[in-house]
Amino acid sequence: MRLENKIALITGAARGIGEAIARLFVEEGAFVILSDINDEQGEAVASSIKKGCEYFHLDVSNQNDWQTAQEFILEKYGRLDILVNNAGITGFLETSGPHDPENLDFSSWQKVNAVNSDGVALGCKTAIKLMKPSNAASIVNLSSRSGIVGIPGAAAYAASKAAIRNHSKTVALYCAEQGYPIRCNSIHPGGILTPMWDAMLGEGEARDSAIQAISADIPLGVMGSANDVAYAALYLASDESKYVTGIELNIDGGILAGSAASPNRE
Ligand SMILES: NC(=O)c1ccc[n+]([C@@H]2O[C@H](COP(=O)([O-])OP(=O)(O)OC[C@H]3O[C@@H](n4cnc5c(N)ncnc54)[C@H](O)[C@@H]3O)[C@@H](O)[C@H]2O)c1
Repeated sequence: MRLENKIALITGAARGIGEAIARLFVEEGAFVILSDINDEQGEAVASSIKKGCEYFHLDVSNQNDWQTAQEFILEKYGRLDILVNNAGITGFLETSGPHDPENLDFSSWQKVNAVNSDGVALGCKTAIKLMKPSNAASIVNLSSRSGIVGIPGAAAYAASKAAIRNHSKTVALYCAEQGYPIRCNSIHPGGILTPMWDAMLGEGEARDSAIQAISADIPLGVMGSANDVAYAALYLASDESKYVTGIELNIDGGILAGSAASPNRE
């Protein structure tokens, strides 16, 4: 029960990493508000968890939705202890693209940044207000390995994730400076097999060989699971990490540990 008596809000919780975090947090004793734009799937996940959670519609790119969530949480629970800003899009399915820096489609760039970068900024703003009455609160932001290195074919995604990486540190320092009981950290997943990859992997045999090819480039040799990230979020959300703020935690099978061009002895 590492999250006993904690009230948590998780964005993008209808599937993938957000769903895994919601399930783990409930198991660890938190009351979890799952949110998403996919209401049908979000409601289904919440009902399958049964106790210790509820579903609430929240489009993270929409200021009014955050305002409504803030009023709802304040009225019903009086405070928030944990926010996981998990919702994010690559833009490959959600926009027309292209996403390379030379040809990028500006409205696609804006859409990806609106969800990933603006969504996290609005989430942090809302959480800071709701977390002041908490004894010990934690904001966990889902950045990416793509927020640390450049991605030629996904400029908006990479830039938006870099914005999350930096904003997390600003929030961490601001809250410390103000004496608020709020920590803020970022998680940087890489190669986690979730529905987000569907658009990039194809189907059937093509999917299997794409997964094999990606795995071959990962030092640990396999793609990660949503739970690998959920356990990192659990640590950062719990009071076990009470001295940890402004850090970036890589969950990537070792991808960021080195470089493909590292020199070889022979
Ligand atoms: N899977 C990976 O390898 C990987 C790697 C690095 C970072 N991440 C990050 O982890 C987070 C979760 O990724 P995932 O793999 O579970 O993705 P996913 O696509 O499987 O799930 C994302 C969820 O976010 C929801 N969503 C999309 N737009 C939204 C919006 N405007 N408001 C609220 N919800 C919205 C979707 O409906 C979906 O339920 C994302 O921020 C992603 O960028 C994932």
